[in-house]
Amino acid sequence: MKIGLICGQEINELINDSEEIIVETNYGNTLINFKKLENNDVFFINRHGENKKIPPHNINYRANIQALKSCNIENIISIFTVGSMKKTILTGDFVIPNDFIDFTKSRCLTYFENDRVHIDMNNPFCPSLRKLLIESCKIVDDKKIHNRGVYLTTEGPRLETSSEINLFSNYADIVGMTLVPEIILAREQNMCYAALCVVSNMAAGLQNELKTDEISKTFIDKKPVIINLIKKSIKNMENKKKCKCNKK
Ligand code: HPA
Repeated sequence: MKIGLICGQEINELINDSEEIIVETNYGNTLINFKKLENNDVFFINRHGENKKIPPHNINYRANIQALKSCNIENIISIFTVGSMKKTILTGDFVIPNDFIDFTKSRCLTYFENDRVHIDMNNPFCPSLRKLLIESCKIVDDKKIHNRGVYLTTEGPRLETSSEINLFSNYADIVGMTLVPEIILAREQNMCYAALCVVSNMAAGLQNELKTDEISKTFIDKKPVIINLIKKSIKNMENKKKCKCNKK
């Protein structure tokens, strides 16, 4: 099967010896690292671009998703670092979100600029792909896996104030800057999409000052587990149950 993998941090261990492909789209070019992994064809994109420097509000989300679509990919697993807004979700935990809230402000959110198309968002994450991720996560201590959660996307690039987190935490569990519009565009392309969120910190007000390095440090610490989870999910992909994501 062909699987799309999107990440904002480096996981060179997964893409070592991969083939680099530049995919041209209507929105610009996207660099994809292609590799056979666990008997599947894996297409990897770093959402922050080739040099990994593009900030969340400037990511070319439309090119990234269209590039995967044009490679005939049906399933996307996307990896995120997030802040936790709940005392029950701790740094180093994993969350497989089931819903999201969009608090972005200035992004291109759609492929349908000139069409009156309204995509249903009752199940933004593919239930079958989520289930597969959750099953794969069983190799990790149960207390550290949260099988549900609401991901609130902020515009960034600044972090939130503690009053914002206080407000958001009434409605969502984790906060990050990059799920939207990636997930919306994947839905518009009728692709199955699920997210593996790595909690890199407690959100503003729940811990002292947050430094950018801290976000990548947790990811690096958790990398062996993340790689294991992803490999297991890719290996199990053939067991994925049917879903309705591909129906228009
Ligand atoms: N806020 C927003 N985005 C993030 C955070 C956070 O606390 N941690 C990682 N990405």
